[in-house]
Amino acid sequence: MINKIRTELEKIVDPSLHKTLKDSEGIKHLGYDEENDIVTLIVAMGEKNPETEKALKLEITKLIKIDLGHKGIKLQIEEHRQFNSIVNSSIRFIGIISGKGGVGKSTVAANIAYRLAKKGHKVGIIDADIYGSSIPNIMEFDSNDRPRYTEDGKITPLVKDNIETISTEFFTQPSEPVIWRGGMLHSMLDHFFYDVAWSKKMEYMLIDLPPGTGDIMLDIKSYIPQAKMILVTTPHPSASHVAIKAGYAAQKLEHEILGIVENMSYYYNEANKKNEKLFGEGGGQMVASSLGAELICQIPINRPIHHTSLYESDEQIGNLYDDIADYIIMSYEK
Ligand SMILES: Nc1ncnc2c1ncn2[C@@H]1O[C@H](COP(=O)(O)OP(=O)(O)O)[C@@H](O)[C@H]1O
Ligand SMILES: [Mg+2]
Repeated sequence: MINKIRTELEKIVDPSLHKTLKDSEGIKHLGYDEENDIVTLIVAMGEKNPETEKALKLEITKLIKIDLGHKGIKLQIEEHRQFNSIVNSSIRFIGIISGKGGVGKSTVAANIAYRLAKKGHKVGIIDADIYGSSIPNIMEFDSNDRPRYTEDGKITPLVKDNIETISTEFFTQPSEPVIWRGGMLHSMLDHFFYDVAWSKKMEYMLIDLPPGTGDIMLDIKSYIPQAKMILVTTPHPSASHVAIKAGYAAQKLEHEILGIVENMSYYYNEANKKNEKLFGEGGGQMVASSLGAELICQIPINRPIHHTSLYESDEQIGNLYDDIADYIIMSYEK
């Protein structure tokens, strides 16, 4: 039912843009109250004046009530938002990318945020890895925690350790499979950038991006061209090979690569006092050389002492994350 409505709606032309609502991405919300046969709609148009609004309203109402025969319609028309969201602010956006999953991308994103926050910076995390969302778990949010809405309809991020976090997972059910297409991820990002009541003092925004070279990187480019990237890989050739690809994709879009983090570089074996290179070696350096970027750090394999996935400064890995945080801060001060 709702798909049929959407398909028909998408054909309607925004009179101010001379584009269909499909092309202008004008359908912001579409809901259907089955019991009362009422369609609820939020539509954005290019320029909203009494004339254009009336024309569009008429078209839509005619479609819903006459052509499709629904009993009622609740229609709200707004103007396409100009870029007045956080994307145009002085926030330092850092995307964390990798070639493939499982290399520790989310762990690295969260720990960098954690160390930056411990150094007194105001930090946020956007968990945009819609297919492998794990930030809420790493940050140890209760699985029932959900963002609330402010009086003016903004979403309040969840806060832990002074880090504001928003995740695709907050808007889905825990066991619900994510079958969202790119378009929906795009509109999710739109919400994260426009509709979240982030702290006005936000300095660093870490974005946990999906692995690979997908079009999300293009979305990021169009939203926040100033975003810089940190690329995570393991020393293993299978990871570094695809990491290079992801790095090239980022560079093609002219995203600056802040540096490479090689994760799971070795495991210190207490028994023989040796660093065991479980996943081979050289991957991080190879990625760095291929991309002309710096290898910031090599992080060994070790379980955190105090938390599930976050490391403190009294641990070797926590120290290394402190170094990465310093590297990031310095790279913005150059
Ligand atoms: N340096 C490390 N030492 C030990 N375990 C790690 C390390 N880095 C990541 N892990 C673990 O590896 C798994 C994958 O990490 P995750 O951050 O979820 O990867 P990704 O986001 O790339 O899929 C997680 O269980 C995580 O706790
Ligand atoms: Mg992840």
